[in-house]
Parts: sequence; structure tokens; C-alpha cells
Amino acid sequence: MEKKSNSVNRRNFISKSALLGAGIVASPLAFANGKNAPGTIEGLKAASNPEKRMLGALEVSPIGLGCMSMKSGSYNPPRDTKDMIPVIRGAYDLGVTFFDTAEVYGPFTDEELVGKALQPIRDNVVIASKFGFDFSNGKRAGRNSKPEHIKSAVEGMLKRLRTDRIDLLYLHRLDPNVPIEDVAGTVKDLIKEGKALHFGLSEVSPTTIRKAHAEQPVAALQSEYSIIQRALENEVIDTCGELGIGFVPWGPVCRGFLGDKFNEHSRFSSDSRLSQVPYFTPEAIEAHMEVLRLVHEWGRKKDATPAQIALAWVMAQKPFIVPIPGTTKLHHVKQNQGALNVTFSDTELKEFRNALEKIQLVGVRGPETALVDQ
Ligand SMILES: NC(=O)c1ccc[n+]([C@@H]2O[C@H](COP(=O)([O-])OP(=O)(O)OC[C@H]3O[C@@H](n4cnc5c(N)ncnc54)[C@H](OP(=O)(O)O)[C@@H]3O)[C@@H](O)[C@H]2O)c1
Repeated sequence: MEKKSNSVNRRNFISKSALLGAGIVASPLAFANGKNAPGTIEGLKAASNPEKRMLGALEVSPIGLGCMSMKSGSYNPPRDTKDMIPVIRGAYDLGVTFFDTAEVYGPFTDEELVGKALQPIRDNVVIASKFGFDFSNGKRAGRNSKPEHIKSAVEGMLKRLRTDRIDLLYLHRLDPNVPIEDVAGTVKDLIKEGKALHFGLSEVSPTTIRKAHAEQPVAALQSEYSIIQRALENEVIDTCGELGIGFVPWGPVCRGFLGDKFNEHSRFSSDSRLSQVPYFTPEAIEAHMEVLRLVHEWGRKKDATPAQIALAWVMAQKPFIVPIPGTTKLHHVKQNQGALNVTFSDTELKEFRNALEKIQLVGVRGPETALVDQ
């Protein structure tokens, strides 16, 4: 499916950014809609897909880019900035305009990378970042969403992201010592000041979503959701639908598992975050190989890779779902964008789900976890 080299994408970026600098060019998606799109990438219909999705009132590309693993050290050692800038800019060339980071990734270094990479195309992209932690000696040190802390955190985020506003400002994890209304009220003030444009939440319960939304409309909830991790189908996604809130699944490729990154022999050393994930124990991996086989089966039917099936499946669940697959590789971004070409009929979705429900999952969250703040 991938017929052109990455250098084509890079050239596109350079030519587009030169024109953008001169103020004579439209956004990549506008390009993508037109016959005159420079350097149209053969075989990648995604780039010409006019579809966009809404997260509340915020318009985004239907698939975003999760930038966490570029610098966080969660799944791989932190990558060099010089190697990651082409991935981020290449994603933009492929039609991605929605980029996800957080203060805690690194900490700080991921925002620095994203800010540097997106600076030349700032006005054409949506930047999402998250606050909610204290830091000590360059490390995360507990939750903190006190209003004054949020305000000073946002000042740092704006500097690192090289911008005057954060398009989507998320609370990363609820601080049990601060009422959610106070957090929402603080973000409301930041929105009034123009330092944030939209409000997001992450890993909170339907009750918290409702309380926050009453104070300041929430544009997006970002929580873990994939073919394997489906707990949030218990009330959370429906609450988003009811309130007009977008849902942004993190971990949509099941942290690489549905991208065929591991096999039944995969084991994780204690310095890998994956070693602490309960659905990656040897027993769980073995059980989930059956899910992977099912995903491969659908991949054969749809002429798609497993990662593309994983992404197309989450997007097919609701029109307000916008996954943000994380990757450090431009060829994976390109492949993931190909998920935009994969669709499921209602009958196929039912067939897929029937098969899924027969598979006994191990170490995943139970439905009751969806109803409590994480
Ligand atoms: N709100 C939160 O609490 C929270 C928590 C975690 C993450 N996030 C955000 O959500 C984003 C995505 O989540 P995630 O990174 O945890 O999980 P993910 O997107 O499910 O998986 C990321 C892993 O999948 C691999 N991958 C991606 N595309 C692939 C492909 N086409 N083929 C094979 N492997 C592929 C990547 O490896 P390669 O680098 O080798 O491609 C990476 O190791 C993060 O980047 C971050 O921005 C938010």
C-alpha cells in the first residue's frame, strides 16, 4: 500500500511551508481536497479524504498523532529531536492536523519537541496538551490542579509549545483535592484570556464529565479505548455523545499490540512501562493473540494492516471518535492514515463484535472502572 518514499513527504512539507511563510497557501486539508494538491501521494487516499471530525466545537483531522513516545521513554528510549521533527512534519504533510502532547511527557521535553516541529505551521494545526501534575527534580511528583498551579503550568506550556494559545487544554488526571468545578472555572478564565481555546478531560467518570461540562463546556474526553480495552463503552462514550463532547481514544493500537509489534513470546523488562500493564502479562498476551488473529482476519477481508483495522474500528463506533495513535515512525503514520480508507457496514460491525465477545480477555479494565475517576 505504501508506494512512495518518505522523502516525497518531506519535500511536500518544505515546499508547503515555504509557501505558507509567504502567506499564499491554504491548509493541507484544503490542498488535499483540490486537484492541484502538490505532490499528491499515490496510493494514500487518506490525504485526499475531505473528512474532518468535531470534538465539541473544535474541528480536527479524523486521526491525530500522539507524540508521547517520542520523548517520554514510555515504550522506547526518548528519541532525538532531529529524528522526530520529520515525523511530526511528515504527519502534517499526510493530512494530520491534530497533535497530542502533555507537560508530563519527558517531562517538558515532548512539548518542546512539538512546539519546535509545529512552529512553522502553527496556524494550520490543532495542538492539544495536558496539565495536572507537580514536578520535582525533573520528575513527576503527584497530582496538582490547584488554580494557581494550573495558571503557572499553562505559562510554561505556552513557552515550550512556542505559541500564544493551546487549542485543546486537558486536565490529565483528576486531583482528588481540588473540586472539578474549580478546575473547569480556571480553564474558563484561561479561555477568556485567550490562552486556551477548548477544554478537555482525561480518564474521568461520567459524573465528573457532567460537573465539569456544566461549568465550562468540554470539547473532548481523552481516555484509553481500543478493540481490547473496551471498558469505556460502559456509559462514558454515551455521556460524551449526549453532551456533544468528542471522544479521543488513547492507546487505540493497544500500545502497539494491535500493530503486530509483539507476539506470544514478548516479555517486557522492568524499565519498560509495558511491564506494568496488566494486559501484557504472559498469560494476557497469550489470550489476546486470539484478538490479533481476528484483527488479521478482518485485515485480509479489507486489504488492511492490523493497525489500520484497529483504528478504523474505533472510528466506526461513533462519528465523534478521533484516535491519536502514537508512533515514532513516519511509515507508521502513513500506514495509520490509510485507516481512513477502511470502513465497516453495520452488519460487519455486529459480526466483528460477536466474534470479539467470545474471546476471554485478561487484565483489561472491568466495566465498573469506567464509572470512577482514574
Ligand atoms: N490521556 C492519557 O492519559 C494518555 C495516556 C497514554 C497516551 N496518551 C496519548 O495517546 C497517544 C497514543 O497512545 P499510546 O501511544 O499509549 O498507544 P497506541 O497509540 O495504541 O500505541 C503506540 C505504540 O504503537 C506502535 N504503533 C503505532 N502505529 C503502528 C503501526 N502502524 N504499526 C505497528 N506499530 C504501531 C508504536 O510504535 P512505533 O513507535 O514503533 O510506531 C507505539 O509503540 C500517546 O502518544 C499520547 O499522546 C494519553
